[in-house]
Amino acid sequence: MVGNFISMIRLTLIIVFFIAGMTDCIAGNIIRNGVPWFDADGNIVNAHGACIVEDGGKYWLFGEYKSDESNAFPGFGCYSSDNLVDWKFERVVLPVQQNGILGPERVGERVKVMRCPSTGEYIMLMHADDMKYKDPNIGIAVCDRIDGDYELLGTIEYEGQPIKRWDMGTFQDEDGTGYLLIHHGPIYRLSKDYRSIEAKVADVKGMGESPAMFKKDGIYYLLTSHTTSWERNDNYYFTASSIEGPWENQGLFCPPGSLTYNSQCTFVLPLINNGEMIPMYMGDRWSFPYQASAATYVWLPMQTDGTKLFIPEYWQAWDVDYISKAESKGVSIAHLWSSNTPGDKLSLPFNGQRISIIGKSDNQSGYAEVRIKNKEGDVLHTSLVDFYSKTEDLGPRFVSKSYPEGDYILEVEVTGKNPVWFNKKGDRFGSTDCFINVSEFVVE
Ligand code: GLA
Repeated sequence: MVGNFISMIRLTLIIVFFIAGMTDCIAGNIIRNGVPWFDADGNIVNAHGACIVEDGGKYWLFGEYKSDESNAFPGFGCYSSDNLVDWKFERVVLPVQQNGILGPERVGERVKVMRCPSTGEYIMLMHADDMKYKDPNIGIAVCDRIDGDYELLGTIEYEGQPIKRWDMGTFQDEDGTGYLLIHHGPIYRLSKDYRSIEAKVADVKGMGESPAMFKKDGIYYLLTSHTTSWERNDNYYFTASSIEGPWENQGLFCPPGSLTYNSQCTFVLPLINNGEMIPMYMGDRWSFPYQASAATYVWLPMQTDGTKLFIPEYWQAWDVDYISKAESKGVSIAHLWSSNTPGDKLSLPFNGQRISIIGKSDNQSGYAEVRIKNKEGDVLHTSLVDFYSKTEDLGPRFVSKSYPEGDYILEVEVTGKNPVWFNKKGDRFGSTDCFINVSEFVVE
């Protein structure tokens, strides 16, 4: 009798778990790469050169709160999430300062935050510069709450001198020691309170920009990019069994020519999934000069095998709970359309909740203005969407937010604008034309 009762409870539990599992599968926590994301208020998630801190049972995303008007420091923003997919904008935690290294008409990039285990204080490090990138510094700000007002203390110094370098990253070791990573090699150990630098522990020969580090199974992995400004390149990595080195260049971690799946590394989140640590790659797909609207994110699970590190395949969409590729849902509508005439517009009425635009990005393409209207003609959403990439790619360029089931109109307009920029040497980068190439829509 007791045995039967226990079996019944077991069966009930199995059924409950099975249904819960199924619901998860259907709903899914899906990360969609290379398309703008929308926060809980319906605004585009604006957190570039970012990092994620896990704290108090939540994920906190810090990043450059870019604008479409200028490359000047716009403040660093903070978002929170329970699942890495649905982000709530908390606030700008470090605004433009009245003067100093992050005053008006300065550059502020690659914000990284860590909680100092010995003091409980939150330490923010960043690259601060002038608009021509000729006055690089590493700035430090502190706060006693993760999403509070950070106080900018100034520059962090090494042997009494400011570090006159630009791209940076941070790494927190398993024993709580904090490190500052600097482009082209230097690794500094922070003091116990994380407020100063204690020692330079390594200088990694052959390193490039945008350093990001993680540790798995006793091996340190250090990711880096080549120096190509906002353009993407084939990022590579080093490994070492001690942070002091020796560091060994291990080559690429994405297929050659994919330009790191069209992104530049910024951070690696140690994602705990079913008791296993999965290093989650976080990269930027820059879109200069309309970074706030059109720069997107590429976040992918990485695999390790000894000193080998790789992301074997680009998953445009993946389930962060199951670490598996997500198949696209919805009804596909084939629609070939290509134009480089500013003002040319494609209009598509649809019935449903959400629409995706599938199209080609290449080095002759530019920005589309994408609008969603309700059947009364009110504009529910409008933003610039980037169709440029140095290497050709066919895939989703835009996935709308989810609206109440109904009748809507999607408009895609050629703007004539395209991403073009120059590096310090005056070399031209970016697109040669302003094409928009659409091939399909998917309605859910
Ligand atoms: C590189 C850096 C970025 C930014 C741009 C500016 O991509 O990694 O952080 O400074 O250059 O061109």
